[in-house]
Amino acid sequence: MLLRITHYDEPILRLSGEEVTIFDDKLGQLAEDMIDTMHEAEGIGLAAQQVGKALRFCVVEIAHNPENPITCIFDGKPLNPDLLMPLALANPEIEELPGEDMVYEEGCLSFPEIRGDVVRADRVRVRYLDLKGTEHVLECDGLLSRCIQHETDHLAGILFIDRMEPEVLAEIKPEVKELKRLTKKAINKK
Ligand code: CO
Repeated sequence: MLLRITHYDEPILRLSGEEVTIFDDKLGQLAEDMIDTMHEAEGIGLAAQQVGKALRFCVVEIAHNPENPITCIFDGKPLNPDLLMPLALANPEIEELPGEDMVYEEGCLSFPEIRGDVVRADRVRVRYLDLKGTEHVLECDGLLSRCIQHETDHLAGILFIDRMEPEVLAEIKPEVKELKRLTKKAINKK
């Protein structure tokens, strides 16, 4: 089932999610619906807040790109990241690993057609629970790391615009303002 994607500046996007504590069919269904919704919107990640739920839960799916390979260590062993996709993460905790920060032009499904450079750690270690409630430790870099960092931010009510340098933010400010106006209009219509 496709879910409605919330847009900036709906208040839910600023809420910290509650920990996931029940790993049942309902959570599995939410993951499935979020993955369908993400595919439909042609995104690579989606957080619970973006479908109207304040939960520490997100989904990610990165397509393999041989030009930008991802180095991935899953539960202590090297793993082809394709085998993890689509990935559902409950209660992810991120630790940045040593290395150079990277700049990348990010988008967000809650900010249609708005993009801007964000600096983030290249490599992270993320601890999370899968749909059965089993803990995993994933170390990764590149686009997968970036996407997980972006989605985990959402779970704490942090948005990519909060991470942008002032000059980057200044450039997209008119579009962000217009989005805010349109969202308000759409909400008031309901
Ligand atoms: Co986003």
